[in-house]
Amino acid sequence: MSILLEDHVKLGNCNVFPHVKVGYRSYANETMIRSHTTIGRYCSIGRRCTLNAARHPTNWLSTHPFFCSIEENSYSKPYPEEEVTLQIGNDVWIGDNVVIMGGITIGDGAVIGAGAVVTKDVEPYQIVGGVPAKHIRYRFENEIVSKLLDMRWWQYREEFIVALPHDDIKAAIQMLQARIAVTAMDMVLPAHFRPFGTPQVLRSALSTAL
Ligand SMILES: CC(C)(COP(=O)(O)OP(=O)(O)OC[C@H]1O[C@@H](n2cnc3c(N)ncnc32)[C@H](O)[C@@H]1OP(=O)(O)O)[C@@H](O)C(=O)NCCC(=O)NCCS
Repeated sequence: MSILLEDHVKLGNCNVFPHVKVGYRSYANETMIRSHTTIGRYCSIGRRCTLNAARHPTNWLSTHPFFCSIEENSYSKPYPEEEVTLQIGNDVWIGDNVVIMGGITIGDGAVIGAGAVVTKDVEPYQIVGGVPAKHIRYRFENEIVSKLLDMRWWQYREEFIVALPHDDIKAAIQMLQARIAVTAMDMVLPAHFRPFGTPQVLRSALSTAL
C-alpha cells in the first residue's frame, strides 16, 4: 500500500511517508505523517505536527540510525522490528505542534491541544493536552458521546449531513436520527481510497494552508 487518499483531502506542505491512509475531507499542514498511519474522515490537523513519531533504540550502543537503518549500513538491524501503527479516528482535531507517538489509537471526535506529546490512547471525544498529554475534559456528556459513536455521521454522504443545526448538538443528533431511520442505507459514502504519489517520502503541496 502506498499513500491512499479519499476525496477532498488536503495535505499542504506535508511530508507523507508510504503506507498512509487519509479519509474524506481530512487536512493537515506542514506536518510529517509517517508510515503505517491511518487518519479517518473530517480530521483537522494543525501545523508542524509529527504523527507516528519515529523511534530510535535507547538501549543499543547508539541511538543513531546508522545502526538501525539497512540503507545506511548493511550490518545494521532494523528498529523497531515490527511495524508501529497509529490509528486516528474520524472528526479528530489536532492542534499545532503536536507529536503523536506510534502504537496508539486516537478515538473518534478526540481533540489534542496545541503542543501536546501524546504517548497513550485517547478516548473518543476526549480533549487532552500537555506533555505528556493528559485529560482536560470530554467534548460532550456520556449520553451524547454514545449517540454520536452509534450513528457515526462521517460514514454518510455530504448531502446527508449538511443542513443540520450543527451548533446545537442535541438538535443535530435528533435530526440525524430521524434521517437515518428513513434513508440511511442509500446515503452511506463507501470507502474510496485512491493512490497518491510514489512510495517514497514525498513533499506534497496539494493546497494552500487552511
Ligand atoms: C485543547 C483546547 C482545544 C482546549 O480548549 P478549551 O476546552 O476551550 O480549554 P480552556 O481554554 O477552557 O482550558 C481548559 C484547561 O485546559 C488547559 N489547556 C488548554 N489548552 C491546553 C493545551 N494546549 N495544553 C495543555 N493544557 C491546555 C487550560 O490551561 C485549562 O487548565 P485549568 O483548568 O487547569 O485552568 C485548546 O486550548 C487548544 O489547544 N486548541 C488548539 C489550537 C490550535 O492549535 N489551533 C491551530 C490548529 S487548527
